[in-house]
Amino acid sequence: MTIESIAQAAYLVAALLFIFALASLSKHETAKAGNAYGMAGMAIALAATVALAIDRQIETVGLILIGVAMVAGGAIGIWRARVVEMTGMPELIALLHSFVGLAAVLVGWSGYLLVEGGGDPAETAELEALGTLGIHHVEVFIGVVIGAVTFTGSIVAYGKLSGRLKSNPMTLPGKTILNLGALATIVVLTVWFFWSPQVWLLVAVTLVALALGWHLVASIGGGDMPVVVSMLNSYSGWAAAASGFLLDNDLLIVTGALVGASGAYLSYIMCRAMNRSFLSVISGGFGIEAGPADDRDYGEHRETSAEQVAELLWEADSVIIAPGYGMAVAQAQYGVAELTRRLREHGTSVRFAIHPVAGRLPGHMNVLLAEAKVPYDIVLEMDEINGDFAGTEVVLVIGANDTVNPAAETDPGSPIAGMPVLRVWQSDDVIVFKRSMASGYAGVQNPLFFNDNSAMLFGDAKDRVEDIIRALP
Ligand code: TAP
Repeated sequence: MTIESIAQAAYLVAALLFIFALASLSKHETAKAGNAYGMAGMAIALAATVALAIDRQIETVGLILIGVAMVAGGAIGIWRARVVEMTGMPELIALLHSFVGLAAVLVGWSGYLLVEGGGDPAETAELEALGTLGIHHVEVFIGVVIGAVTFTGSIVAYGKLSGRLKSNPMTLPGKTILNLGALATIVVLTVWFFWSPQVWLLVAVTLVALALGWHLVASIGGGDMPVVVSMLNSYSGWAAAASGFLLDNDLLIVTGALVGASGAYLSYIMCRAMNRSFLSVISGGFGIEAGPADDRDYGEHRETSAEQVAELLWEADSVIIAPGYGMAVAQAQYGVAELTRRLREHGTSVRFAIHPVAGRLPGHMNVLLAEAKVPYDIVLEMDEINGDFAGTEVVLVIGANDTVNPAAETDPGSPIAGMPVLRVWQSDDVIVFKRSMASGYAGVQNPLFFNDNSAMLFGDAKDRVEDIIRALP
């Protein structure tokens, strides 16, 4: 058996492990095993690739570069994964996607320099003899285009998620025409390059695709960012698959396709949960025009104290807690779990209402509540509990904002119009935990805060929840 055939067999095993990983990650109970499958698959894939490189007798400098890249990449990866906060996960993921995009651009360019650019005449002659030179031209172009769109798109997503760029949508005049124009230009350049592979065409398409990626994501508002992150996840998969074709690497093609397809499906599910059209989001917020600046007078808000909230809770029979990003930032989940336990012992019905995009990643709130040992059976999805707010006495909105904003239902001009929200305002009393009157992630004001049955409990959510526990009789 040759190293070549052993490596191909190892690639097959790695591909199967990646499929197991995806399947296992879809359930709480098997998610840890899913991670282990993924790590094992990646270790096998790396070992097989290095073995292949040695077997093909690449130059020593090449092997040294592989070693340096693996040690440096591994060290940075371990360090980032250790220090990243749960709330910083989406931006880290967005940044990692940008690396995949950049890698695809570089692989595309190196493919060009070797074959079309004349760097490796033997390879060019072989492709010519096989009659696949034209296919190579197209592979180079597709890899560079998808990679470049993913690269700049992910950087903008990283900027928006980490607060380095403003989260509201950029609206250049005629933005849809700009996007369609860029796409048409890419198609024309691809056909041209197929007939006559000149370097200026590749330079031009790289620049157009970089600009398109930037514009597509910059045009999408904060509220739709979850979909964008999973969409870029999908793009990064297709970029990796395109590199797989160029490098003639089956594992990269399979893995890229897995990531591409699962990312696309996740984006679709999220769009459905947020009542957004998939096409409109991936085409850069097509049809979503920025509304006028919000200078409406919403009236006065009412403030309350931890002692008053403790009293209200003690007298209530039914309580629903709607957690959001602020609970994660404050790490208030342990206090919230303790408060829940105390109220349940007192005989109060306490349940949790989880919005599909609460927090900053899918399942964010579920993970935090599970970590704090809140029983699963009182943690309900939006669709299961949205009809129950009307008969509930007290709702605690803990660090949630966009996900409980009635403007999504009442104001067609709002950037979050049409997004399903938790109807907390239908309960008798709503207590909102936050530090100020600042808006949520989507940057829109929340009329809920000014309702007669709403009261604001200002301060860090963790401190306020602990104050309430202390004030309970
Ligand atoms: P947000 O709308 O992000 O609002 C969170 C609120 O928490 C803020 O208004 C903030 O107000 C408050 N807060 C922050 N730190 C706090 C602290 N230490 N103590 C108390 N309050 C604190 O939250 P949400 O309702 O969970 O909505 C999620 C948003 O993120 C949606 O727009 C969603 O589209 C977007 N998003 C979601 C995801 C996924 S997949 N879940 C991914 C990316 C983006 P103050 O500053 O006044 O305290």
